[in-house]
Amino acid sequence: MERHNYGVIGLGVMGRNLLYNIADNGFSVAGFDLDVEKVKELHAGATPGTTVLGTASLEDFVSALETPRKIILMVPAGKPVDAVLGSITPLLSKGDIVIDAGNSYFKDTDRRIAELASKDLHFMGMGVSGGEQGARRGPSIMPGGDLQAFNHLQPMLEAISAKVDGEACTAYMGKGSAGNYVKMVHNGIEYAIMQLISEAYDLLRKGANLNNDQLYQVFKTWNEGEMNSFLIEITRDIFQQKDDLTDGYLVDQILDKAGAKGTGKWTSEQAMEIGVSIPTIDIAVTSRILSAYKDERVQASQLYSKNEISTPENTELFIKEVGDALYLATLISYAQGLALLVKASEEYKFEIPLKDVVKIWRGGCIIRSVLLEKFYQAYSKDKNLSNILLDKAISEIVKDKISSLRKTAAFAASNGISGLGIQTTLGYFDAYTTESLPVNLIQAQRDYFGAHTYQRIDREGVFHTSWKTSNN
Ligand code: 6PG
Repeated sequence: MERHNYGVIGLGVMGRNLLYNIADNGFSVAGFDLDVEKVKELHAGATPGTTVLGTASLEDFVSALETPRKIILMVPAGKPVDAVLGSITPLLSKGDIVIDAGNSYFKDTDRRIAELASKDLHFMGMGVSGGEQGARRGPSIMPGGDLQAFNHLQPMLEAISAKVDGEACTAYMGKGSAGNYVKMVHNGIEYAIMQLISEAYDLLRKGANLNNDQLYQVFKTWNEGEMNSFLIEITRDIFQQKDDLTDGYLVDQILDKAGAKGTGKWTSEQAMEIGVSIPTIDIAVTSRILSAYKDERVQASQLYSKNEISTPENTELFIKEVGDALYLATLISYAQGLALLVKASEEYKFEIPLKDVVKIWRGGCIIRSVLLEKFYQAYSKDKNLSNILLDKAISEIVKDKISSLRKTAAFAASNGISGLGIQTTLGYFDAYTTESLPVNLIQAQRDYFGAHTYQRIDREGVFHTSWKTSNN
């Protein structure tokens, strides 16, 4: 029997598309899924001339692969991954490589690496971003972990990934579960940018009374300039989509309750756990949670009616300011996510190459944008940059746009339009760029009621004071 170069387990849309992408790039691929229909359909969907085999059992699947076997799991994160590993590992041989390409939690990956290593098997966590189309035509791929295993995969990953200026959007992301961690943070940033875009939309429709056709034009113009990015591009297109069931646009018929699968929440939890401030991502997560309380929001909106919105005098200027605010807040969201990666790299000894992270996010993934090119330049100058806001060239962009962020946040606040992401981002920026924060007072309070001690600005050491109370 002919041995295939790669195997894919999980033939849902993402798994099937990734499998076809691998096959299109000249590799032979075998696929397996518990759903026999998906296995049967596999061959028919492949590009003519490519070598794709659907296998009916895990035993057939394993024997259809050359050794060391390279098996990509495209199954939902969590229990399904452990279930597949439980079934397949007894069939594998020493040196075989299993790659989990789902959005797995990085600590699960660490555990699985150890479990498979005890059986002389390699296990890798690999982030894949780009949705269905990305998987088929070129995603951004974030592999990490076992270097020996990575070396086997590298030529294939470079072939199937998106390309920017001829460079593949894939690179080694670091040790252990770094691949999953980088993808998790990618998703956290994705949440933040989506939140900010939704707020810009709200300001434009409620503040400037723009209709969907006008919104389409605004996003089209934004996408043609410095804000060019996947998320701005798809938002542009959303404003054009007519509804099949009514006369209007689809976006106006969609219920305002956001779903979430958990990667944004993990990013926030992680930042709290290792002590990194990423409030735009936090607010994006909690804002989706708040959106789900629709009934209560309806009730509260009746109880607390809002004043009429004061429409800006100069609509064109307002649109420009909202655009600049969105651009800057987006930049600061990336800054927060990247700062988390810097700290995580130290904390978990991942050795994440930040320069490569921003390089491979330039294409294929959901948060791809031309802005990443500027971050790439920043990390090319200083690979140890702790926060991209500290880069000189980036600081020039920030200075140019900050007044728009202030005006936009103020417009939202004074008109009662929720600007959770925009306002939080501004607050983060102001705190991050403040030499002297008022937390000296917090330290005094902590020492007052709990003898928690404090440090002084004029001498070394740790101090405690018997504070004078109103009773003494
Ligand atoms: C990607 C996406 C992908 C998925 C998100 C959606 O990079 O291709 O991030 O991983 O669409 O997990 O996440 P939520 O359902 O949590 O919004």
